[in-house]
Amino acid sequence: MKVLVTGGLGFIGSHTVVKLIENGDEVVIVDNLYNSKLEVKDRIKEITGVECPTYVIDVQNKEELTKVFKEHRVDAVIHFAGYKAVGESCVKPLEYYDNNLNSTLVLLEVMRDYKVHNFVFSSSATVYGEPQRVPMYESDPVVEATSPYGETKVMIERILKDYAKVDKEFNCALLRYFNPIGAHKSGLLGEDPNGIPNNLLPYIAKVATGELKEVNVFGNDYDTVDGTGVRDYIHVVDLAKGHVLALNKLKTNPGLVIYNLGTGKGTSVLEMIKAYEEASGVKIPYVIKERRPGDIASSFANCDKARDELGFTCDFTVLDACRDGYHFQVEESERKKKAK
Ligand code: UFG
Repeated sequence: MKVLVTGGLGFIGSHTVVKLIENGDEVVIVDNLYNSKLEVKDRIKEITGVECPTYVIDVQNKEELTKVFKEHRVDAVIHFAGYKAVGESCVKPLEYYDNNLNSTLVLLEVMRDYKVHNFVFSSSATVYGEPQRVPMYESDPVVEATSPYGETKVMIERILKDYAKVDKEFNCALLRYFNPIGAHKSGLLGEDPNGIPNNLLPYIAKVATGELKEVNVFGNDYDTVDGTGVRDYIHVVDLAKGHVLALNKLKTNPGLVIYNLGTGKGTSVLEMIKAYEEASGVKIPYVIKERRPGDIASSFANCDKARDELGFTCDFTVLDACRDGYHFQVEESERKKKAK
């Protein structure tokens, strides 16, 4: 298959590109480098030996995007590109709605023009909002999300559902990710956000390398195993595999399908810190702080549907993910020092 991957140089995108290449697929990357670096393209080549055609363009630019579809007979599209910071989206809602919705609409229009019928969308567990129960099932209601970022996911899911109703040839997988963590075992691909990380694992990683002093644990009075927030942390390489399996499913012309991609297991913030200490051999200091506004106590997936219909299971544990994440962080910090 020839697969166009938007946001293919980002955290989840780059790992998925590697999995696709390993699966024998041809990949074309589109990325505007908003939250990624061009050198990731070379790192993908270092891992796979394959250089993917890469277009540094914005998906919203219909003219530029059309050129890509003209140059490549694409069979399927995986759409990762989008703004993704929950907190930032509360400050810049218009930018989030504009970018995330318009890029998807432009992409769907160009796909329609070029008769490309297979689409995988990066959705999120955030569409379950304040969950009515855990674990969450795909059949649980999609509700008002707790941030403009989350709301863009809800809205795009809605657009795709409406479109799938009228275009009977359109096959679409909505993949609802839980919390992706970890890195490629080579230490070449991973998550290294600019500035102070918002998410737990990149934050812990920077404490482990001494770039930040201590982890702020947001609340220890939730109704959970130790009072701290519980999430379903999935190794990014397992998540990437889920995309390859979803594309296989689309080959059977299923119309629109929805899958949770998680491990089915919840881990608390304190358990995560402990796992990271074990994996890295580094002591991770932490302090308990107030709850972070908008956070929920517990979120983890029921993944039976992905297992039964896609054959999706996870190969890696939280400990593996901490080990790979730490390895990447150490290597990345070294690379940055050398580059200075
Ligand atoms: N946490 C801390 N300290 C930190 C950062 C996080 O204690 O410095 C805690 C949070 O309170 C939460 C847990 O760690 O209990 C996980 O927080 P993250 O920010 O890593 O992840 P979230 O679950 O809040 O958010 C993730 C994705 C979003 C997505 C959301 C819901 O980052 O894109 O899951 O699916 F919208």
